[in-house]
Amino acid sequence: MSTGRATRRDRGAADATALHIRWMIRRDMPDITAIETASFEYAWTEDDFLRCLRQRNCIGMVAERGERIVGFMIYELHRTRLHVLNFAVAPAVRRTGVGGLMVGKLVYKLCSHRRQKITLAVREGNTAAQLFFRAHRFQAARVLRNYYEDSGEDAYQMEYTPHEHEWAAFGGAPVNRLARYEDRE
Ligand SMILES: CC(C)(COP(=O)(O)OP(=O)(O)OC[C@H]1O[C@@H](n2cnc3c(N)ncnc32)[C@H](O)[C@@H]1OP(=O)(O)O)[C@@H](O)C(=O)NCCC(=O)NCCS
Repeated sequence: MSTGRATRRDRGAADATALHIRWMIRRDMPDITAIETASFEYAWTEDDFLRCLRQRNCIGMVAERGERIVGFMIYELHRTRLHVLNFAVAPAVRRTGVGGLMVGKLVYKLCSHRRQKITLAVREGNTAAQLFFRAHRFQAARVLRNYYEDSGEDAYQMEYTPHEHEWAAFGGAPVNRLARYEDRE
């Protein structure tokens, strides 16, 4: 007979499959590089990841379901913005909201760090990613000509600026005294 209350054991089982986001650690690297090579034609190597993560302003996070890493993102902290350098979800779990959860985390980080916007570059040919970021209220801000050294492809710079209601929990939007410097970062 069901008592209608989850036992400690049930709750443990549910937690084991819950999707959550945490800091990336060195031990995650094989799972991350597997997702990376399954996601990109010009994939980062493990060295590329490690070199990037050694930078003081560079942060890596993973999305994990149970013990399994299902996505990751790497971003840089600048004075007025967060800039996403790498972002991918394991092919087998795409269109299940993992990418959306990672964007939600970025928006939380943006507002709690009192920065103005999230920026990223998407390859011109990567329509799926453009549609994904557009579905999450990113807007194409400009074309970056010959942006990629590997293929010479153009990129779209996409940007996300939070709504007033997203700032509300953090005491309102910050005043951007650095706006005129931000493109020099
Ligand atoms: C782009 C990517 C991160 C999306 O991750 P995801 O976990 O599948 O995204 P979500 O499930 O949160 O998708 C949310 C919404 O985004 C849109 N979207 C996501 N993928 C899409 C696609 N392939 N085509 C069209 N719309 C898409 C949809 O509106 C989707 O909602 P729906 O599934 O209810 O229709 C994933 O496809 C991926 O890793 N791609 C390869 C790596 C990559 O291109 N990274 C970005 C580099 S800039």
